[in-house]
Amino acid sequence: MNILVTGGAGYIGSHTVVELTKAGHVPIILDDFRNSRESVLDGLETILGSRPKTYVGDCTDADFVETVFLAEQIDGVIHFAALKAVGESIEKPLLYYRNNIGSLVTVLDATLRHGVKAFVFSSSATVYGEPDSLPIKETDPRKPATSPYGNTKQIGEDILRDTTLASAGSLRSIALRYFNPIGAHESGTIGELPLGIPNNLVPYLTQTAAGLRERLTIFGDDYETADGTCIRDYIHVVDLARAHIAALDHLFSSETDQPAYDVYNVGTGHGTSVAELVETFERETGVKVPHAIGPRRHGDISSCYANADKIRRTLGWSAEIPLSQALTDSWRWQQNITA
Ligand code: NAD
Ligand code: UFG
Repeated sequence: MNILVTGGAGYIGSHTVVELTKAGHVPIILDDFRNSRESVLDGLETILGSRPKTYVGDCTDADFVETVFLAEQIDGVIHFAALKAVGESIEKPLLYYRNNIGSLVTVLDATLRHGVKAFVFSSSATVYGEPDSLPIKETDPRKPATSPYGNTKQIGEDILRDTTLASAGSLRSIALRYFNPIGAHESGTIGELPLGIPNNLVPYLTQTAAGLRERLTIFGDDYETADGTCIRDYIHVVDLARAHIAALDHLFSSETDQPAYDVYNVGTGHGTSVAELVETFERETGVKVPHAIGPRRHGDISSCYANADKIRRTLGWSAEIPLSQALTDSWRWQQNITA
């Protein structure tokens, strides 16, 4: 199948391009590199042996998106293209609504008009907010979003559901709610490329281990968890990439009695505390990470991890790569980009 991958030069998109190719699909990247670098294509060429076909442009530009759909025989779409910095979205809400909602509407519109049958959307565990119970199930309520970024994921899910249902069977779609993606391709040639000071734990940790940052601050040790630090469900980006292939396979092969639109958690089902993650990194890499406890970060929830039964049962996917490998893969990637 020819799969259009919007945001395919980004962190999760680039790993998905690799897994799509390994599964026998042909990925077609659409990205304007607003949060990635063209050198990602070199990394992909090293892994795949050839450069994936790439269209450089903005997904909110309907004329540009139309030229791609006219030029290619597209069978399915994975829509990653979005901005993702929670703090920036609070300062610049319209930037986030325009880009994240505008790109989804534009790409979805072309998908429908060109009769493309399968669409996978990047959603986030952020839609659950502070959960009432753990592990989090897909049937648990979504909570009011605490940032414009989070709101674009809730609105995005609703737009996709409504559009899919209104298409009367011509479109089938899945929203994947990612928990915390970490890690990098084992070759060390592609990975996360945070621009500026990282907000997320693992890039901040690996930059500290590499000596680029003085010390990692653990945001709070007074949460109601075993060691007082926050708990998250860290999923290897290659496992996450494979979940997209499982979603597409399901959309292409589904019986008609399956729901046309569905949502799935993509997590390991296991919670890891910040302190445990730092300890695991130090043990697995042998590198000490200077760190100190600081105050809580505004907006952080205490614990968040997935019930991943639905995706295992229905799509046959489950996470396979352990946290230890995710951290050593992140470290290999960090060393490569620091060198
Ligand atoms: P990323 O920033 O690395 O990748 C996104 C890519 O989309 C970038 O290459 C960027 O240049 C491109 N892009 C953005 N807007 C575009 C536009 N209008 N036109 C063309 N290209 C555009 O981010 P990522 O971590 O790979 O995230 C991918 C998706 O997964 C996003 O939708 C994000 O919100 C979602 N998500 C990410 C996480 C996470 O922690 N990384 C968690 C949950 C959900
Ligand atoms: N943390 C630190 N120090 C740091 C950075 C993070 O202690 O320097 C802690 C945070 O307090 C949190 C944990 O590490 O407890 C994970 O933080 P991240 O920023 O890596 O990830 P979040 O869980 O806060 O956010 C992620 C994505 C968001 C998404 C959210 C949804 O980055 O885009 O998951 O679950 F909205």
